[in-house]
Amino acid sequence: MSDGRSSNVVWHEGTVNRARREALNGHHSVCLWFTGLSGAGKSTVAHAVEERLHGLGCRTYVFDGDNVRHGLCGDLGFSREDRAENLRRIAEMVKLFLDAGVIALTAFISPFRADRERVRKIVGPDDFIEIYCRCPLEVCERRDVKGLYARARRGEIPEFTGISSPYEPPESPDLILDTAEQPLEECVEAVLGVLEARGVVARARPRIVRTRGAGA
Ligand code: ADX
Repeated sequence: MSDGRSSNVVWHEGTVNRARREALNGHHSVCLWFTGLSGAGKSTVAHAVEERLHGLGCRTYVFDGDNVRHGLCGDLGFSREDRAENLRRIAEMVKLFLDAGVIALTAFISPFRADRERVRKIVGPDDFIEIYCRCPLEVCERRDVKGLYARARRGEIPEFTGISSPYEPPESPDLILDTAEQPLEECVEAVLGVLEARGVVARARPRIVRTRGAGA
């Protein structure tokens, strides 16, 4: 949100715009926002969907909490405020990627409804597809891929989502994936189904035929 420090800056519109980039790519850009507990499978599904989209000739990028927090958001922790700022930066970044014509897939816990709503506003509601990776805490904790739940239970990690910090499930997500029960392929199919229904990609004809001017 602008605090006035950048109030004398004017957005520069180039001649190559989003619509032209999308036409060149042969698909639309959109944000697939995966939310859910740590260990719920957000990254796994996001990367599997990316793999399929890549195979269809789509331009994609996965934003992953654990990666982004090394660089862009490396200065942020897990307080309520820091999580909000983490997601605000991601949302602004995603918005630029959408302008670049890319299908942006994000894998962030994004536990607070208000923060996700702010992301939706920044990205633009028409470009925001919320996907809830619904997985019981017990299952995430049993998996404990990174060993963080055990550490959080021992009190070594403060404000750990699901243990000492809340997770607020989406009230009306665009898609729910029961990642504890549904096999990965089924989850991927479901996401692709949403993309097809929205006309973002067409699986039967992955590349939109480009118009190259008269006579071409
Ligand atoms: S978010 O809440 O701001 O959306 P984000 O998805 O970026 O979180 O980061 C979550 C990842 O950071 C987890 O998968 C886990 O590996 C790690 N992590 C470290 N500390 C915490 C914590 N206190 N709560 C949740 N995740 C944590």
